[in-house]
Formats: sequence, structure tokens, C-alpha cells
Amino acid sequence: MIYQIYPRSWADADGNGVGDLPGITARLPYLRALGVDAVWLSPFYTSPQADAGYDVADYRNIDPLFGTLADADELVRVAHDNELRVIVDLVPNHTSDEHAWFRAALAAAPGSPERERYVFRDGRGAAGEQPPNDWQSVFGGDAWTRITGSDGAPGQWYLHLFDRKQPDLNWENPVVRSEFEDILRFWLDRGVDGYRVDVAHGLVKAPGLPDWDGPMNMLDMTEDHTPPPMWDQDGVHEIYRGWRKVLDSYPGERAMCAEAWVEPPERLAHYVRPDEFQQAFNFDFLITPWRAADLTEAIARSYRANDQVGAPTTWVLSNHDVVRHATRLALPVGQPRPNGIFATDPQPDAERGLRRARAATTLMLALPGGAYVYYGEELGLPEHTTLPDEVRQDPTYQRTGHREAGRDGCRIPMPWEKDSTSYGFGPGGHPWLPQPESYGALAVDQQDGVSGSTLELYRTLLRLRRELRLGEGSATQVDLGADVVAYDVTSGASTVRVILNLGLDPVELPSSSEVLVTSSPTLGGRARPEELVRDERASRRRVRDASYRVAGEERAAYRDERLEVHTDTAVWLAMPVE
Ligand code: NOJ
Repeated sequence: MIYQIYPRSWADADGNGVGDLPGITARLPYLRALGVDAVWLSPFYTSPQADAGYDVADYRNIDPLFGTLADADELVRVAHDNELRVIVDLVPNHTSDEHAWFRAALAAAPGSPERERYVFRDGRGAAGEQPPNDWQSVFGGDAWTRITGSDGAPGQWYLHLFDRKQPDLNWENPVVRSEFEDILRFWLDRGVDGYRVDVAHGLVKAPGLPDWDGPMNMLDMTEDHTPPPMWDQDGVHEIYRGWRKVLDSYPGERAMCAEAWVEPPERLAHYVRPDEFQQAFNFDFLITPWRAADLTEAIARSYRANDQVGAPTTWVLSNHDVVRHATRLALPVGQPRPNGIFATDPQPDAERGLRRARAATTLMLALPGGAYVYYGEELGLPEHTTLPDEVRQDPTYQRTGHREAGRDGCRIPMPWEKDSTSYGFGPGGHPWLPQPESYGALAVDQQDGVSGSTLELYRTLLRLRRELRLGEGSATQVDLGADVVAYDVTSGASTVRVILNLGLDPVELPSSSEVLVTSSPTLGGRARPEELVRDERASRRRVRDASYRVAGEERAAYRDERLEVHTDTAVWLAMPVE
């Protein structure tokens, strides 16, 4: 399992309110105990932080907010000592506008080699006053910004699929290609184990940059899956084949994972052909509505598509760009996914969200393939849905004219200790985003060792996933009715059945199985797990009913009860060997 750390929000050692590399290093043993195999760190490079570090000004250095190169080296060393691999984030689609290359491009003339490293064009209209095409930024507004020449006159336009402070690079230019291979080597030489590649589907644009009036997110597209001119162009694959060669030239297993919002899964599978990425995020699964038929179909499609290229599929439910799944899954099913939630919006039911999130994770962690966990989901952290607007920092909030709340609500600093300053995030007391009060009760120290807590659920799931080698197993769908998602996952000699019940009626468990773990503390609706005594013969449980005294000695009375999985609950069963 790969655990995503959002560096600015995980652990703040120096108390400046922003998480940092020394903070991460100090907390790595927590991840080892959780059962993590690798950590993926969102960007920590030198950056003006216009998009929380996804606007890189120097790919070979660390932003002082996060520490130094020596801190990065130390992090990698300690991670390896803890048997954790380290994946860093590579941002190749765009640089910061404060990158030396972009500064040089602004200072140089149209058509110069400096400008050729980016996508500069003359504007349309008699005086070039209109953008070169009609593309919109993913963050809202135009995807083009016009520059002002050194003489003060309006000049060319540059493309930015994201914020205006994130100019797109020109990947037709061999100079750009060799620079990034060099950057890859820079971090591989420092010992990192691989890369998560940002916007992997965006580097190459269709020749001539034709107009496009469809949605900017491929996952919002309808049945017509012709790739839009800015996404998923066939030319990107040659770049990744080159990168794979670089990775393979290093000792050990160095890997790349693509962040590619590409539809359908068969197109995404192109990115994980044998000579490209080892993995690609399965966003199709992440956005699947909370309906049994949809989940089963999404899982089947992922396996089908990946099997065709012989690659493992991946599973992910939360990250730094989407509403946390402990909140998202409480939203009305079938409605468009919001980009953040405002305090004035209807507030999702926290209890339902957490119950579903735990069930979704219990399903996900049973499935063969690579699994990604976003920091804090192991605590059941909800989205911060009542952030004051004045503290919002995500550029999407401004660029959409405040129509979208943006992604700040899923990036709130981690609560470690309920009774410490900023819940133990750091000693400074002023985290870069305020934490909601609900985070206190969810802090690590409140859940550590507490039976039935979300943290202990994750630990159990991850321990069993590893022990039973479920990640490398094979899954066969089991039909238990229209409202149930169920698989037998077989690995070696053992078979685990995962059952997720999304219906209102309880689902009875097979009598010859044994319950390994359940997503909700109550399985039959009444008893808590600590009150259960496992019956060796069957999955009937004996529930402590009453106590009575015999000759002065206290005895417990038990009654037998059938085991059932209730609504929005998932369970893992050990199945008998045939
Ligand atoms: C995807 C990243 O995950 C997101 O946070 C970022 O804003 C965009 N790419 C642009 O780099």
C-alpha cells in the first residue's frame, strides 16, 4: 500500500504552520506500524506555492518552507531504514512562471529558443487581442495569458492548462525532454524509489492546437471518448518509454505511477503497457457512485482493461484533489462531484459518510492490485466543510469566481494528539489551514489501540492484506444479489471473501466461514466485536447476553445469533478450503 503524504499538512517540525520534511522523517515509524509499503510525497520543490507546490521553480531543490536537500536525503535514509520506499512527485506538464526558463522566455523575443520551451503563440484578432484558441483552464477561466513586452506593449500569449502561474512546457522540444530525463536521474541518484507523474495525460497537445468546447475533465465526458486536443494524445507514450528506460537503468525496483484522468479504462491501460508506467491511478473507481452495480462494473472494467496489458490495477478513494471519501460518500448518489463544499452548502451526514468510507476501504483493501491511501483517511477524517472563505488558498476558488470552494477542505493539517497545540500537527499553533473541532476526537492518540477505531481497522486490514498476500491474489466476483458487492480473493492456499452490503436488507453470511474483520463495529446490529466469541464451527456468533452467578462466581450467558452484514458495511471472511 502506498500512503500519500501532503507535506504541508502532515507534520510541522519547525512550528511555522506548514508541514515539513523533518516533521515527516520524525513520524515515519507511525507509517511502518500502520502497514505502509511506500510513501508518495506531493511536491516539496522550490516554488512560489501558487498551486501548493505544483508550480515548480527549481526541480532540483527543496523549498525553504519544507527544509533542505540534506533533509530530503535524511528522509529517504530513514524511510529505507523503516522499510518504506519513497515516491516523489514529478510535475512535467508545466513549470512555475518563476522558473528560470520562463523568466528567460519572457525576456527573449518571439520565436527564440527560450520561448520554444513553452507554448507561446500570437493572439487572434487584428491586433492579436484574442487568445490563440478557446481552451479553458482546468481551474476556470482562459487557458491563455497575454504577456507585456519589455517596451510595455502587449505581446504573445502563453498556454497554461492550470493557473496563469503554471505555464505549459512544449514537449515537442527535445531540450525539454532531455531536461526532464536529467531531473529524473537527479532524484534517482539521491535514492528515491520512483515517481508519481502529475498530469501524465497532458504533456503533448494536438498539432495546431484546435479549438475545443467540450468539458476539460475527460472523466466528465460523455460516450464519445475521442481525446480532446489537450489530453491523452498518443504522442505522450514515447516520452514515458524513454523514462522507463532511465528508471530501469538503476538498481532495485524503481517505479512510476501516472496521474492520468483518462477515459475509458482501456485508454488508461495504454499508460501501463510493459515498457511504460508500472501503475496508473484508477480514478474511474474513485468517482464511481455508491451503488453496487456501478462498483461491480467499475471493478470488472479495471481488471479487464489492465489484464489486456498485463499490468496490476490500482485502487484509490481519496487524494489532495477530491472531497475526502468520508464526506463524499455521504453526498446524494448520482449527483455531479463538487469541487469542495461551502459552509453554506447542505452539510453531509458525517456518520453515514464515515460508515460508508470504512466499508469502501474494507472493499478496496481486499482487492488485488496496488492500493493508495491518502493521509488522514486512516483516521476517518472528513472534509473540512465549514472553512471560512477568507482562508481558502486553492487557486480554483478565485479562478472560478468563487463558484467552487476548491480543494482546501481535503488538505487540512493532520491531527496527532487531541490535547496539543494544533492537535499535535506542530508547535506553532497557527496551521496554514485551520482544523475543524471534529479533528480532536479523531486524532491519532484517540484511536491508537482503541478497538473498533478507524485507525485500528486500517491496521488490521493492512496487516491481513499483507499476511494473506491479497494484493497479489486474483478476484472472482460472487453474486449475492443486486445490492451486494462481493468477491472471493484467492492467493496461495487461502480464499478471503469480501462482502459489501449497500442494500437495506441484511445479508446473511455463509455458515462455514469465519469473520476476519468488519468495517463497522456492529455486525449484527447489536453486539460489539469485543462481546463476540467466535464459534469455531461456523460464522454463527455467540453473543454475551447476561451474567449470572454460580456459587459466588460470575458466569456469562451466551446466545447464538446468525451473522449478518448490515447496510453500508463490509466484511472479510476466511472461506473454507474446498
Ligand atoms: C494534479 C495535481 O494533483 C493537482 O493538485 C494540481 O493542481 C494539478 N495537477 C496541476 O499540477
